[in-house]
Amino acid sequence: MAVNISTTSVLILSLALLSFGHCCYGQLRVGFYNKDCRNVENIVSRVVGEAFFKDPSLAPAMIRLYFHDCFSNGCDASLLLDGTSSEKKASPNLSVRGYELIDDIKTAVELECNGIVSCADIIALATRDLVTLASGGKTWYAIPTGRFDGTVSLASSVDLPSPRLTVSQTADNFFDRKLSLTDMVLLLGGHTIGVTHCSFIMDRLYNFQNTKQSDPSMDSKLVQELKLK
Ligand code: HEM
Repeated sequence: MAVNISTTSVLILSLALLSFGHCCYGQLRVGFYNKDCRNVENIVSRVVGEAFFKDPSLAPAMIRLYFHDCFSNGCDASLLLDGTSSEKKASPNLSVRGYELIDDIKTAVELECNGIVSCADIIALATRDLVTLASGGKTWYAIPTGRFDGTVSLASSVDLPSPRLTVSQTADNFFDRKLSLTDMVLLLGGHTIGVTHCSFIMDRLYNFQNTKQSDPSMDSKLVQELKLK
């Protein structure tokens, strides 16, 4: 069973996602493909627009896919690689959605510019376009491009924070990637859209640490709202 987290503004998220460029931001630039594939952003927008029209839930799905790719070994699209023990097979990635949309965009881009545009850039551009559509056009922002695709993808290298961690443990995970507490708070704002499964929150609503009570640190109104859902 799924719970709707919310459908409010995703502006904060769109700005925060740029922080993932920390590792190699200097090498990226807006308009990287102007010479060799100048239509790429239009192609991405067209395919994304058609897909969003059919399934708006692709917006949160792609935000999550982008985060899961970036958090393990940087934004190198290694999450897309198939294999018996690739990143896709790691448990936090089993419910990641949106791969087909990236495939469709890649196919459309390759028709016009063969072997030029990286999948890592396609993920970044597609997420930007989906966030823009989900916000009713309010949050468009320029994306620096020029990312390389990774060729190694190992489930064992996926070390996404568990939803069971405390705030300070989660912050340590972000610090390890040179992401500050502010980056973490902004990025977790990504959860303002999308769904989560009840299994992730049931104990905190009904049986926190086997007390048969809800988690006392939660806002009581939120507890009631989530219980109703
Ligand atoms: C401590 C780090 C994080 C944890 C523990 C976490 C955990 C989760 C969990 C448990 C879900 C529900 C999955 C399901 O029920 O299938 C989820 C969904 C989601 N997460 Fe996160 N997350 C984290 C960070 C982030 C960040 C930084 C972003 C944004 C950049 C993000 C974006 C999303 C989105 C958009 C969804 C909804 C996906 C959908 O509707 O398909 N998450 N997350």
